[in-house]
Amino acid sequence: MAKLVINETKSKGTIVPEIYGHFSEHLGRCIYEGLYVGEDSDIPNVKGMRKDVVDALKEIKVPVLRWPGGCFADEYHWKDGIGEKSKRKKMVNTHWGGVTEDNSFGTHEFMELCSQIGCKTYVNGNLGSGTVQEMSEWVEYMTFEGESPMSNLRKANGSEKSWKVDYFGVGNENWGCGGNMTPEYYANEYRRYQTYVRQYDPDKPITKVACGANVDDYNWTEKVMETCFRSSPEHLHGHMDMISLHYYTLPEGWEPKVSATEFDEELYYKTLNQAYHMDELVSRHTAIMDKYDPDKKIGLSVDEWGTWFRVEPGTNPGFLYQQNTVRDALVAGISLNIFNKHCDRVKMACIAQMVNVLQSVVLTDGDKMLRTPTYHVFHMYRHHQGAELLDSSLSGVSVIGEGKCEVPEITESVSCKDNVITITVNNLSMTESKTLDVVLTEDKDYEVIEASMVGGSDPHGYNTFDDPDNVTEVAFNGCKKISGNKLCLTLPAASVVEIRLKA
Ligand code: AHR
Repeated sequence: MAKLVINETKSKGTIVPEIYGHFSEHLGRCIYEGLYVGEDSDIPNVKGMRKDVVDALKEIKVPVLRWPGGCFADEYHWKDGIGEKSKRKKMVNTHWGGVTEDNSFGTHEFMELCSQIGCKTYVNGNLGSGTVQEMSEWVEYMTFEGESPMSNLRKANGSEKSWKVDYFGVGNENWGCGGNMTPEYYANEYRRYQTYVRQYDPDKPITKVACGANVDDYNWTEKVMETCFRSSPEHLHGHMDMISLHYYTLPEGWEPKVSATEFDEELYYKTLNQAYHMDELVSRHTAIMDKYDPDKKIGLSVDEWGTWFRVEPGTNPGFLYQQNTVRDALVAGISLNIFNKHCDRVKMACIAQMVNVLQSVVLTDGDKMLRTPTYHVFHMYRHHQGAELLDSSLSGVSVIGEGKCEVPEITESVSCKDNVITITVNNLSMTESKTLDVVLTEDKDYEVIEASMVGGSDPHGYNTFDDPDNVTEVAFNGCKKISGNKLCLTLPAASVVEIRLKA
């Protein structure tokens, strides 16, 4: 019998809200149409931002938003995206469909979007094709309050007050689309570029994020850490606050041929197996970081993760527009549980991408909008944001499948905030319900104050613009109280479940 033991007296660190972050790139219909429609649009908007989408995002408490890329970031020249919109320089978005980018969404619009959502800002700078001066001036433009060439330019463009840049990425995927660099070369460039990412206001520190590895490129993490820490480990703290990791769930590798909605049992388990691989990746990158940074001052930022399937039939292959099923909800549930469990090192994670691209939480079509199954997982899991991770462990859990299809039948994480314990568990079995005994170590009388679920029926289920609530968050009825500190859960096949308890 599967059993979950929770030691509610043992905290294992804080789950920073940023683990529930998002990524928005100038890619397909993410920024344009998905988030920004312009003030003249018939779609209800506030200063050009879609009202329906912003309202939905507020409900899941988006903590941080990364922008403008992705691969786009290392081709983006920020000065093209400021000033009078009709005069903004156009460019070709070479990575994503070769479409013309009119730069009508730029720095001011991004800051406005984050302020409407109520989230922190994560700006990704251009190291691949931009200069040190360009990066330095962008930071001055955004964050310097006093009198200077760049702050005067910002004021002339309508923003008297400087903004807070919470996170600044010094390049993106510089091992690939961001310049095809070796780790040693990138790390030296990082040391140089970050020097000029100035901290103008001690009350508004910028957390600097170095470009980290692609998937299991442990050599990248090793060499970047080694080069950055060489000769000045003390000096470096404060100069490199985070290093990233990018990992996508691609059940059949690159050139995705796999449909987002049509899959058999083998592909279902292959997908979940790939999602679960995140645990090994985070553990092994963490072990390398531990060698250089044993006090865990530097965070791991998994700032691109999610499923990557074939685009929806009839859509531009360069736009990466895909549907989202209960299988995606499970990928989200598995991944977020892993990040929670590694909260001593994982200090940010951004799902790719927020709207209309890859594993989105929201899809749009003209003036219509829907929340995906992944959205509902983020809504349930929002209770983990800022909570203390509790010591918890599973026993008696079988492994389903083998090789590339192997997954544990259940994954979990547990946290506590304001005396409320939040348990999130996933039953990964495609066909069988599972029984899970839950035991808390304190002899108290716990009351179930909330129990909800996403999935639990057809794993292929998804939402359409005609049926936007086919898969949604529903009440979970499979929770039986055995005694004050013992519960028995009956988890339906392919379900993501949340239970909240109060003594
Ligand atoms: O999210 C899509 C792309 O995936 C990003 O632009 C890039 O960073 C990654 O390879």
